[in-house]
Amino acid sequence: MRRYFIAGNWKMNLTRAAAEALATDLVAAMPAGDSPVDVLVAPASPYLLPVASVTAGSHVELGAQDAYFESAGAFTGEVSVEMLLDVGCTQVILGHSERRHVLGETDEFTGKKVEAALAGGLKVILCVGELLSEREAEETDSVLDRQMAGGLKNVDERAMENVVIAYEPVWAIGTGKTASPDQAESAHDHLRKWLANRYNSEVADRTRILYGGSVKPENASELLGQPNVDGALVGGASLKADLFNAIIEAAVELAGS
Ligand code: PGA
Repeated sequence: MRRYFIAGNWKMNLTRAAAEALATDLVAAMPAGDSPVDVLVAPASPYLLPVASVTAGSHVELGAQDAYFESAGAFTGEVSVEMLLDVGCTQVILGHSERRHVLGETDEFTGKKVEAALAGGLKVILCVGELLSEREAEETDSVLDRQMAGGLKNVDERAMENVVIAYEPVWAIGTGKTASPDQAESAHDHLRKWLANRYNSEVADRTRILYGGSVKPENASELLGQPNVDGALVGGASLKADLFNAIIEAAVELAGS
């Protein structure tokens, strides 16, 4: 049984005070005792430490939005896996569509980061997803196949225990346009079959595949209710405690049903 996983990607937003306040509200709202749902927040790098001091000892895990593949040296502006572990991160988002399409990162570059993060001890949320033009040209499956093959190039079956996939159609990110539950389910089903092919049915069955792209309280239950949707990677709605908590609540209800 795959546990639901709700991750908040705060992107380049908030101030230090607002990030601390948001984390405080989320920690306060987490149910006491064992939660049936995994929850993570990924603040901008300067706010990792202050947010870590709020989430420490809680059920809210801390993630980074990116990491570099070299361990140290002359890489101005970059942050290493070791640094992220040092400030309390347990996970890192890699291959996000904004890294790919705004900053020009390739599948090969993403694959190197995935390999380095896993080798260093961070869990990875690997994002994949097609552009609107690719969907319209019926290239969704081939784009996903290419991004999965590049991102997981040097990841073996054992390392896959520490990988979560996030399907994020680029046309649905930050646009208010959500994939329909059928569109999400069909892409997730394709990704799970890809995992079965590349690895085996056990890896395919246990790997969690999150949906991302304009997830909000109003559409969360329907998306999370799809058989192959195991959670959500939430951008905009993760910046408001009441919205993010409502999405977590939707997952808690489905987990208990
Ligand atoms: P969104 O972003 O929820 O604002 O669409 C999702 C993401 O980019 O991870």
